[in-house]
Amino acid sequence: MPEADDKQAKSFHTDRPQETPGFFLKGCGALDWGMQNRLSRIFDPDSGRTVMLAVDHGYFQGPTTGLERIDLDIVPLLGWADTLMCTRGILRSVIPPTFAKGVVLRASGGPSILKELSDEHLAMSIEEAVRLDAAALAVQVFIGGEHESRSIRNMTRLVDAGNRHGIPTLAVTAVGRELTRDAKYMRLAVRICAELGATYVKTYFVPEDFETVTASCPVPIVIAGGKKQPELDALRMASLAIRQGASGVDMGRNIFQSEHPAAMIRAVRAVVHENASPEEAYDLYRDLREES
Ligand code: R5P
Repeated sequence: MPEADDKQAKSFHTDRPQETPGFFLKGCGALDWGMQNRLSRIFDPDSGRTVMLAVDHGYFQGPTTGLERIDLDIVPLLGWADTLMCTRGILRSVIPPTFAKGVVLRASGGPSILKELSDEHLAMSIEEAVRLDAAALAVQVFIGGEHESRSIRNMTRLVDAGNRHGIPTLAVTAVGRELTRDAKYMRLAVRICAELGATYVKTYFVPEDFETVTASCPVPIVIAGGKKQPELDALRMASLAIRQGASGVDMGRNIFQSEHPAAMIRAVRAVVHENASPEEAYDLYRDLREES
């Protein structure tokens, strides 16, 4: 067994972004045409970034606040999302098939919020993903969790299947209540996902040293929004993440639980795609809020 790597003086070279020869996304230059085409339906090729609208929470917690009626409250927002992240059940039952942008489908599941969450299995076949024209498949990975190995195995099986069919895999690093959310943990979690084949990785933003998380991950990182915060705080978090190397956000509650979701998603877009400052984006939010 190798010894634990506890050296302090690591060299992340955060001032030297990884080069991206052949394709606009970090670490994706050697992927096949179909894979790169699907990624271009998730990430805007002009900015190289994405605003993924995450509405898959029901797969373990049922009708989450703000998602009780996806037909009424989420469908009107789709025009401002680069990509929708949802379950196949919601896709088929509620999302208009005229939606032509990328759809990232939740492909793992099992336990409800009443049980041990890391006890997930794969919950969708690759044929189903092809049938639904998924732009990527998302799988939860529980580094340090009770079922860590199985969740990694879920991911590597999905990567193998996705690579056969040209469908990217989004590894979603899940943080258990008992685990410390710091840069050291995030570096460990996202790097393991990338090393074992994830096409891109979703993680939480941490206020200290987040640039070391993005610098040491060879593939794109998007951040989850997390719990609802005041709008300006959520915009600050998104801005800090982007400035520290994130390739976008996969944001749910901070958009659909806002009192003005349409204004909020447009403000988030300004931060992600136009490098607006949080204050500029918040001004936009307020203006749009007044209009609506
Ligand atoms: C978690 O249940 C889902 O994977 C969400 O897609 C993810 O956590 C992002 O949503 P939020 O911004 O609400 O954290």
